[in-house]
Amino acid sequence: MTQTGQIKNRISQKAASFTESVIREMSREAAKYAAVNLGQGFPDFAAPFDVKEEAMKAIANDHNQYAITWGVKSFRDAIAAKTRRFLGFEIDPETEITVTCGSTEGMIAGMLACIDEGEEVVLFEPFYENYAPDVILSDARPVHVPLYQTPAGDWYFEKDELRAVFNERTKAIIICNPNNPTGKVFTRDELEFIAELCREFDAICFTDEIYEHIIYPSDEKPLEHICVAALDGMRERTVVVNSLSKTYSVTGWRVGYVIAPPDITNAIRKVHDFLTVGAANPLQHAGAYALGLPEKYYADLQREYLEKRDFIVPVLQNAGFKCGFPEGAYYVMTDISDFGFESDVEFTKHLIREIGVAVVPGSSFYYDKSLGSQKVRFCFCKKQETLDAAAERLQKLR
Ligand SMILES: Cc1ncc(COP(=O)(O)O)c(C=O)c1O
Repeated sequence: MTQTGQIKNRISQKAASFTESVIREMSREAAKYAAVNLGQGFPDFAAPFDVKEEAMKAIANDHNQYAITWGVKSFRDAIAAKTRRFLGFEIDPETEITVTCGSTEGMIAGMLACIDEGEEVVLFEPFYENYAPDVILSDARPVHVPLYQTPAGDWYFEKDELRAVFNERTKAIIICNPNNPTGKVFTRDELEFIAELCREFDAICFTDEIYEHIIYPSDEKPLEHICVAALDGMRERTVVVNSLSKTYSVTGWRVGYVIAPPDITNAIRKVHDFLTVGAANPLQHAGAYALGLPEKYYADLQREYLEKRDFIVPVLQNAGFKCGFPEGAYYVMTDISDFGFESDVEFTKHLIREIGVAVVPGSSFYYDKSLGSQKVRFCFCKKQETLDAAAERLQKLR
């Protein structure tokens, strides 16, 4: 009670307006019921030994104090070299890179640096769940554009619908490519269309490319990862968010980076400095090594995930889930309507408690929760024995 007898509202409207992460909550539920965790997207296998060794060496060599706030020079140089090698464009490590605490911090720092209150941010729905609170924290107004599924399970958007939401208040669009949770890899034609809208409406494109190396091209579907920043006139209006987490299986290291034009980078560096000061110094040294790994590392990563994908999708289909083969990332968004459950949350609880497999309810990827009420997401970034255990338990569903 204050002196005037009024009770202050101790929780900000912003914090009250979003719920706790459902994904992290499901991990706790999984642990409670000893369920096989195919919910949260973190590998349960070891990170590459040589990358870990570099981190240990960096600690032993006393890289243990604050690094330069926007990142260790050797790591920024490695980011620039890797960008040239895989994305095909030049960036200046002195003025266009900010190293952050994971891409999670990269995205929110980027948005806080660019977005003003009331400006509109376009999001494809379903979206990676962090983007919703990111939009709230940056006082933006979210505008959702649906991704639809073909009968074969591929995801696409209607160009007319995307064009219709762009207007003079549109400040940015967020894309996640390859996409979590759908596994969609955006085509050149789709990215050209998005780029055209960004140029026409003077909007910024935030692109989350944390799964850039996890795509599954085949003869029938020759997919390629294209960074929207590499398209004409897009370098100056694209913020690329990336991280070590998925490519090097070190989600707990919390080392990410943002590539943006110098004026935006300057603003991001200020936000980043006051949010976190900097990312872990020794782990950035190990990151400099990791980013330079030879082609074989990336080819092996892709092949190993392809094998996991090709194992899990038929398992899910046989258990009664409707789903296609994702084009990229390591998730399968499935339709659960054949199981006859009222909601995705009810189904998820049943799956965790009775079947012993944890997943993420589909509604956590939607603003309009009803759109996800007959969906759940599986991840397959797990050891074969974990996937085998899940497959065995899922047989009980039939
Ligand atoms: C699309 C996407 N972006 C960002 C993240 C978080 O990445 P980081 O560990 O770099 O913060 C995840 C983690 O699952 C993700 O799926």
